[in-house]
This record gives sequence, structure tokens and C-alpha cells, in this order.
Amino acid sequence: MTALLDIHLTVADADAALRADARAGLTAHPKHLPPTWFYDARGSALFERITELPEYFPTRTERALLERTADAIAITSGADTIVELGSGSSAKTRLLLDAFRRARSLRRYVPQDVSEPALREAMSALAADYPGLQLHGVVGDFTAHLDRLPAEGRRMVAFLGGTIGNLLPAQRAEFLRALRAALRPGEAVLLGTGLVVDPAVLVPAYDDAAGVTAEFNRNVLHVLNRELGADFDVEAFAHKALWDARNEWIEMRLVAQRAMTVALAELGLTVRFAAGEEMCTEVSAKFRRPGVRAMVEQAGFAVVDSWADPDERMALTLARAV
Ligand code: SAH
Ligand code: TRP
Repeated sequence: MTALLDIHLTVADADAALRADARAGLTAHPKHLPPTWFYDARGSALFERITELPEYFPTRTERALLERTADAIAITSGADTIVELGSGSSAKTRLLLDAFRRARSLRRYVPQDVSEPALREAMSALAADYPGLQLHGVVGDFTAHLDRLPAEGRRMVAFLGGTIGNLLPAQRAEFLRALRAALRPGEAVLLGTGLVVDPAVLVPAYDDAAGVTAEFNRNVLHVLNRELGADFDVEAFAHKALWDARNEWIEMRLVAQRAMTVALAELGLTVRFAAGEEMCTEVSAKFRRPGVRAMVEQAGFAVVDSWADPDERMALTLARAV
């Protein structure tokens, strides 16, 4: 077994980026925080719990879709290397690994994630379960480090879970452009996108009855307390998820339950929250199938095939760099 781990995002890089993001976002009007900072070890574990919630349909829907399509994806892609961006626990990816193995084409898996603890845990489980698979992990930021992805093999880059929807439209276009630039003509992309569905189904997926998503959202404040010496009273912020029908995205917010003054010692910064003030922590954009096609084609890919579940809640799109 060969296992490598590249670190494109050192602790010092992550610290500098967190400082810059926190300062910019907390002094903006309205305040906002970027979603990348949810995912420390606790945040990654909370996300895994979200994937098991009855209300959170994206993971199980995409899993069922992969069960149906993975063999076709393995054969059609022609790839021997699966690169995965934002790979997290790599749990669903096993369906792809198994199908590529059945097609006798599996050589290498390259999981990439900003969360080093999640990546290490996923890699050690995979090393045990897939003897002979070359594992080449990358700790990195998919909005910054795509040009440094390992180039070995004939690659298919998987980006699952609807994570592309966590990027704002301009970031999304830039991400796809950078991804296209990182690939050779003929290499493939497998994109998992959430589709526009009834808000009565969608909103509870981001606001579950057990409060796990609320805990996940508030985790970003625990991260700021620990990393930047901040004194957020975490429990004084309520979770809110709303459907923005114009932008067709879910917006996650933290709502100050009373007026507060928060000091961020490491930044020498003090910020005030009014009672009821809302801070955006993440968007999760949903797509329509023609929109997905247009988005990938605009970035220099040709769509090879696409699939959706019977309720049209999630789509998988296989495309090739042209
Ligand atoms: N692909 C998995 C996990 C989705 S959750 C699934 O489909 O279930 C989003 C994942 O992206 C998390 O593992 C998180 O750590 C990672 N992530 C978030 N922002 C990132 C960034 N900028 N660069 C790389 N990984 C990121
Ligand atoms: N990529 C996931 C999604 O958009 C991330 C996610 C799920 C999330 N639930 C969340 C992010 C709650 C913030 C808050 O579906």
C-alpha cells in the first residue's frame, strides 16, 4: 500500500486565512463568515451526523443515485484515478471505488479536503479496506489550490454532495475555470448538484428537529473562540435557514438573541451585535438541470451524461474537458 499526504494548506496558512476572513466578514455590513471554517474535527463529525438525519435527504439521495450509475460512470469516464474535492469521510465514494474496481480500472484515489483530521481518518479506513489502492491525500482549499493537484493517471475529478452550491456564483465560475485549467483534454469531472425542490422539503434539510444543523452552524463560533481568542457566547446565537427564491439558494444564518459585544483578542478587534442581528454563514445553491449543463459547458467541459433520482432532488453530471 502506498499512501502519500500533501499539505497545501499548512496550519500557518489556515490561521492567516481565518484571520483575514474573520476580520473582513465581521466588520462588513451585513456581517458574514465564509463556510470553510465550519470544518474542524468537531465540525466534520457534526456534518457526518447531518448526513444521517431523516430531514437531510441530499446524502442518501446521491448515494442511491451512485448505486445506480457508478458502473456506467466507471466505464464511460475511462479514468484510472479518482480525485475528489471536499472528500470529507469519503463514505459515498466507496461506491465509485468499487465500480472502478469491477471495471478493472482503479489505480489511485486522491481525496482532497480542507479538514486534515477528516482526511486522515478517511484515508486510514480506506487503506485498510482497499489494499493495493494508491492513496494520495491532499490537504488543500479547492478555491485556491487546484493547480497543485497530483497529475498522475487519467483522472476523473468528483465533486459531490452539492458542495459546489456552497460557492457564490462568481466563485463557482472561477472554480470551474480553474478546474478546467488543471485538467488535460479528455479527463473527466463528476459533479453532484442539489436541484431546486419544494422549500417545504428543502428547508427542514437545513433546519432539523434534533438541532444538529444548528450545532453545526454555531460551531464556526467555537472555532473563532479557540483560534482567535474570541469570547462569543455561542449559545446566544440561534440558527436560521431560509429559502431565497430569487437566488434559488438556502441561506444559513446565525441570529444574535440579544445585543452583544464580542472581543477577538488575537485580532485586536471588538464587534457589536444588535439584538436580532443576522450574520450569513453559508449559502447552499440549488440548480436546474439545464443550468448545470450551461455552467459546465461555459467552463470548457462537454457533458457526457447526466442522471437524477426519480424525485429530481439531486443530479450527477459526467463531463469531459474539451
Ligand atoms: N463530499 C462529502 C462531504 C461534503 S461536506 C459528501 O458529499 O458528503 C463539504 C466538505 O468540503 C467537507 O468535508 C469540508 O471539510 C470540505 N471543504 C469545505 N470547504 C472547502 C474548501 N474550500 N476546500 C476544500 N475542502 C473544503
Ligand atoms: N454541502 C452541504 C450542503 O450544502 C453542507 C451543509 C449541509 C451545510 N448542511 C449544512 C452547511 C448546514 C452549513 C449548514 O448541503
